[in-house]
Amino acid sequence: MVEFRKVNLIEPWLPSLQKMDIVFLRNVLIYFDTETKAQVLAKVRGSLSDNGFLFLGNAETILNLKAPFRREIIANSTVYRAAPIIKE
Ligand SMILES: C[S@@+](CC[C@H](N)C(=O)[O-])C[C@H]1O[C@@H](n2cnc3c(N)ncnc32)[C@H](O)[C@@H]1O
Repeated sequence: MVEFRKVNLIEPWLPSLQKMDIVFLRNVLIYFDTETKAQVLAKVRGSLSDNGFLFLGNAETILNLKAPFRREIIANSTVYRAAPIIKE
């Protein structure tokens, strides 16, 4: 029931990638500048189902970024829920 693929976050993603329910992107965004983080997060959101969850590392936040996620606390854990994608 689990499919494993390798993806380079800063390259175009596989078009055949199915919508995901949950993404663990822990301690990875730290490597990217602000613009790249926003691009990666937009790709994550595009690959996440509308009820999907994004988990970051404990010390990470995306609150300072324009990203289509809303923060929620569930059982003392921070989780980011997919928010509507607003096209500009
Ligand atoms: C600090 S480690 C965190 C590993 C794991 N997620 C964790 O929390 O224990 C950072 C990871 O980001 C991966 N990484 C860095 N740049 C990447 C990119 N452009 N695409 C995909 N993975 C990348 C590295 O290969 C490494 O595995």
